[in-house]
Amino acid sequence: MSNCVNTIRVHVDPPYTVTIGSGLLARCGELLRPVLGECRLCVAADSNVAPLYLDTVTESLRSAGYTVSTCLYPAGEAHKNLETLSGILEFLAAEHLTRSDCVVALGGGVCGDMAGFAAGCYLRGIRYVQLPTTLLSAVDSSVGGKTAIDLKAGKNLAGVFLQPAAVLCDTDCLRTLPPEVFADGAAEAIKTGVLSDETLFSLFDADDLTDRLPEIIARCIAFKAKVVEEDELDNGVRRTLNLGHTAGHAIEKCADFRLTHGHAVAIGMVIMARAAEKLGWCTEPSADRIAAMLRRNRLPVSTEFSASELAAAALSDKKRRGDSISVVVPDRIGSCYMKKVSVNDLEAIFRAGLEG
Ligand code: GLY
Repeated sequence: MSNCVNTIRVHVDPPYTVTIGSGLLARCGELLRPVLGECRLCVAADSNVAPLYLDTVTESLRSAGYTVSTCLYPAGEAHKNLETLSGILEFLAAEHLTRSDCVVALGGGVCGDMAGFAAGCYLRGIRYVQLPTTLLSAVDSSVGGKTAIDLKAGKNLAGVFLQPAAVLCDTDCLRTLPPEVFADGAAEAIKTGVLSDETLFSLFDADDLTDRLPEIIARCIAFKAKVVEEDELDNGVRRTLNLGHTAGHAIEKCADFRLTHGHAVAIGMVIMARAAEKLGWCTEPSADRIAAMLRRNRLPVSTEFSASELAAAALSDKKRRGDSISVVVPDRIGSCYMKKVSVNDLEAIFRAGLEG
């Protein structure tokens, strides 16, 4: 992996920088100091990530002069709930963190979502930084300021928008990810390629992605930054990031969440690309190319659930309102658009997408 460091500025208010490169966790203290200034830090990490990276991070922060406390919680989406959030908030209070202090989210998407939410509600909002350790958080969730926990009624139903003060993405963390965790992130990055960037899509046509990861992450984040700058609060163009998510969420639900998010989104993308071809909604067919690229990256491209099961699951979404639903349609690799469809048509769209 190359030693070069790439930075991308996200122009929101206040703006922040995403830094991508090798060896950043060991340098996080010196890199964060100019951004955060003098303050106290609380590093939040889960029981999987802490043994791998917590010492490196706390040593670097302390060497840069910071007083650091560490808040650990159990790993897994099952713990992205009110109970864990409450534990983090009580910890911040017990440590007497003030409005000028900062939370450091060290981990994958669950950590960023939950520690970010804790920062967003503690004392009505303090700063946080993201140190993503999975490909999924590196290419997507660490940037953009979406934070959330799951409620009994559904995923990500409570949260706030709060942009991080900085993101440091250490590409070394991605070398040792379990294959299925790596594949989850690959699905989101391939999705970004389908949405906006054919070159990014083509970068996944390789036996070993290691040397390509810095470019893959930089291309994903450059696109995400542009989208977030245009639509920070997810009322318009940001929703195109949901390509494959309508069917994907439905598959996750039907499978009782035994399938992970990226794997479900991969199948969802193929369903939408196939449906776009069958229904004459695209200028170039893309489903076979998307499916081949996903398969090459160890991702599934089909599901055993029927169109009616998927439509019922999609329409039971607690966040959905009204008689229409917006789906993201691949027009060709590198270009997608949003289309409003009647909820009554969703089953037929899924059926078209499931046909071989
Ligand atoms: N992960 C989608 C978004 O940040 O909007």
